[in-house]
Amino acid sequence: MKDSKVKPLRNERTSGRIIHHTSEKSILFIFDTGSKSSSFDICMAYDAGFDAVVLYENVTPEDAERLVQDALFSRGPRRSRFTSFFIGGKDLEKAEAVLEAVKNIKVPQPVSSIIIDPGGAYTTAAAMIAKTEHALLTSKLGRLENKRCVILGTGPVGRIAAVLLAKLGCKATIASTNPNRPNGEEYIKEVENFLLKRYNVDIHGVYAPRHEEKTRLLREASIIFCAAAPGIQVIDRSILKEIGDGKVMVDVNAVPPPGIEGIKPEDDMREIYPDMFGIGPVTIGRLKCRLELEILREAKETGEKIYDYKLCLEMARNLLRRPN
Ligand SMILES: NC(=O)c1ccc[n+]([C@@H]2O[C@H](COP(=O)([O-])OP(=O)(O)OC[C@H]3O[C@@H](n4cnc5c(N)ncnc54)[C@H](OP(=O)(O)O)[C@@H]3O)[C@@H](O)[C@H]2O)c1
Repeated sequence: MKDSKVKPLRNERTSGRIIHHTSEKSILFIFDTGSKSSSFDICMAYDAGFDAVVLYENVTPEDAERLVQDALFSRGPRRSRFTSFFIGGKDLEKAEAVLEAVKNIKVPQPVSSIIIDPGGAYTTAAAMIAKTEHALLTSKLGRLENKRCVILGTGPVGRIAAVLLAKLGCKATIASTNPNRPNGEEYIKEVENFLLKRYNVDIHGVYAPRHEEKTRLLREASIIFCAAAPGIQVIDRSILKEIGDGKVMVDVNAVPPPGIEGIKPEDDMREIYPDMFGIGPVTIGRLKCRLELEILREAKETGEKIYDYKLCLEMARNLLRRPN
């Protein structure tokens, strides 16, 4: 069967970019490595203008290979560029394995856009780092890469924030402060090995579940990123009092109580404690949402890029240079 021609209907200028309207249907396939797709990503995809969003759950690399091949054979070279793939699920390792499989697929035409954002971690961590970088520069506090950083929380967001900081050249330490880990010391070594093997970054890990261990760790840092689970407070006022001043505290947890006591959702370098400046979760969340929408819109219209955590950081930085 011969492919129908891509017919531009009209062109429209929105905030400086030309959107080419075509008669082709845009489809986003979401490959979730877990059992429940993210409703957040589904809403974002429709808001970005996809005509259809199709979900597959518990996707393995082998499944993804077959699904991508079938989709691209069906759409042919012309319509392939209106066919995008989004790799989700909370597990970083499984998502990266699916990406590897999709990248290596043999099809006659190039594979169209692939977005990888497991647990929202790539866009959230990129937004958190880009926002902090920007806030330091606009507050004349110097460059992020010269700072000693501590990341609290070893979930997907904490891990990717640590990877981005290490790749920027920061002195970064990742810590678990979770008192419920039965073998905390062993666990944090596993996190170090995972980051080295999977992301090629050599990051020091610390297990610091108690007050004294947290204060010792945080005293050494200039920038503290809190990426613990929703509604878990890991730094309270008694810790803030003991860790010294001149610090920037960044909290990504949007569910009360805040991860860092005293931080408000909309904070943007507000002085939360004498000579301590906070960036709150809604400030980061706004940039994260803009970033995810931008990625989805670009993927829908242009195709042929892999949107990973590195590209996420680049795009988040560009968004901060543009007015909302
Ligand atoms: N603002 C936004 O736009 C935005 C977007 C996405 C996500 N988020 C938020 O970002 C944060 C991190 O996301 P995630 O998916 O990486 O989180 P997660 O996997 O749900 O949790 C991160 C870590 O929190 C730690 N934790 C759990 N209970 C704890 C306790 N009692 N004390 C100390 N630590 C505890 C866990 O142990 P370890 O410390 O040992 O790892 C866990 O790995 C969450 O709060 C999430 O809601 C915000």
